[in-house]
Amino acid sequence: RILIIDFGSQYTQLIARRIREIGVYSEIYPWDIDEQSIRDFNPKGIILSGGPESATEDDAPVAPQVVFDLGIPVLGICYGMQTMAAQLGGEVVTSTHREFGYAKVRAQGHTALLKDIQDEVNAEGHGLLDVWMSHGDKVGTMPEGFTLMASSENAPIAGMTDESRQFYGIQFHPEVTHTVKGGEILGRFVQGICGCEGLWTAKNIIADSIDRVREQVGEDQVILGLSGGVDSSVVAALLHQAIGDKLICVFVDTGLLRLNEGDQVMAMFAENMGVHVIRVNAAERYYIALKGVTDPEAKRKIIGNLFVEIFDEESNKLTNAKWLAQGTIYPDVIESAGSKTGKAHVIKSHHNVGGLPEDMKLGLVEPLRELFKDEVRTIGVELGLPEKMVYRHPFPGPGLGVRILGEVKEEYADLLRQADNIFMEELHKHDLYHKTSQAFAVFLPVKSVGVMGDGRRYDWVIALRAVETIDFMTARWARLPYDFLELMSLRIINEVDGISRVTYDISGKPPATIEWE
Ligand code: XMP
Repeated sequence: RILIIDFGSQYTQLIARRIREIGVYSEIYPWDIDEQSIRDFNPKGIILSGGPESATEDDAPVAPQVVFDLGIPVLGICYGMQTMAAQLGGEVVTSTHREFGYAKVRAQGHTALLKDIQDEVNAEGHGLLDVWMSHGDKVGTMPEGFTLMASSENAPIAGMTDESRQFYGIQFHPEVTHTVKGGEILGRFVQGICGCEGLWTAKNIIADSIDRVREQVGEDQVILGLSGGVDSSVVAALLHQAIGDKLICVFVDTGLLRLNEGDQVMAMFAENMGVHVIRVNAAERYYIALKGVTDPEAKRKIIGNLFVEIFDEESNKLTNAKWLAQGTIYPDVIESAGSKTGKAHVIKSHHNVGGLPEDMKLGLVEPLRELFKDEVRTIGVELGLPEKMVYRHPFPGPGLGVRILGEVKEEYADLLRQADNIFMEELHKHDLYHKTSQAFAVFLPVKSVGVMGDGRRYDWVIALRAVETIDFMTARWARLPYDFLELMSLRIINEVDGISRVTYDISGKPPATIEWE
């Protein structure tokens, strides 16, 4: 296993993902973690991440001393290299200008880390690497015992190593794909230098999780709130393999799901896989609770609270249940742990379910706690879930409740479901679904005039939304082809009785959000 010490770089999670893609387990600890936790993790190598601070400041974050005392290989990336240099007796200097973007680095080919890894060879026979740089400071003087491993125009010391101690520092970022040979370099460190084997595979992850869950819950029953989303579905499939009938899923049909979604969830889990699923048809309760409510936040609260209420009612009936399963994934854990607070075990204020009651006297089972989203998807497919389901766009917990603007009514939900379904169908048919990150229809409760045949129509409006994004924090509206958009408006207006106009949302995030409410 590889330990990554986080200094706050936006790329730290990427480092962990790249290492895991190589098939080696890695975890991220904050830089101020206590030394014993590092020893307990028992890593075969340590990577120091980049970070936004300046190693020239007195109170700059530093790597725990134990990192350099364990006698294992250490790779410092960007800030990680700089703090390594500063801590081991070298010097870091502040540049007059930041370097951000592509750079060419001349690599000293003899080092264990970079040997035979190059994008091209220059006239003098030196290997050149195309890399991604993002830094202000740089190493000015290497610590004693270090030799030059790479250099670039802006960073004469772009790489350094003390091979006798297996310490390596690189100024560029191997974890981003812009560094063409980055994967190879990380692979060389993890497998070649640290000697880790590629055992972190979907099959092993599943086998491991099954063992652990069995050990944790024994003969007890486990309850899971199944939403039909990727995380809870993978948990269901995994726990079903681990404990069979002792897993009981509660699936709440809120009336705010997509077309036929409730039946599809039941068909897949209950009928196909034989999972014990209790379906609660709560649409009426939701429509009544939402009657007359127009404020988006108030709607969200009502939807979330009602979920908890219903889930509570159902779980109280299951007197043998001792455990609650949750689809918490690794990014949730990292975010809630953060620096200084240690590895607090918080119940996810699961925006999918609006927060589960804290007085539930159930232990938590979180088999995906160590996994990134892409790993969750990979094991989902390995567990036999259909790819179409596992690679679906995200769907917000409050469902269509935040896609029907203002008051939620059953009539609106029915129209929206039909329009949304047409949009999804055509996106798949035109091979556009996976070219967008999220796409959906929104119901606008405004009436607009239209003509159809000889008749005048005065009906509701549908807005279509499709975005491209990596992290959902910022997004660009998807440039869907005009012909495709035309087809959408034709199909929706012709087929959905009650819709007379279709618009396409061309707002980015920011300033708009992805959802309309
Ligand atoms: P916004 O609208 O904030 O959405 O740009 C960003 C992403 O989050 C999803 N989203 C939610 N997910 N509960 C959820 O589980 C919510 O209340 C919620 N609101 C937004 C949204 O679909 C998008 O993927």
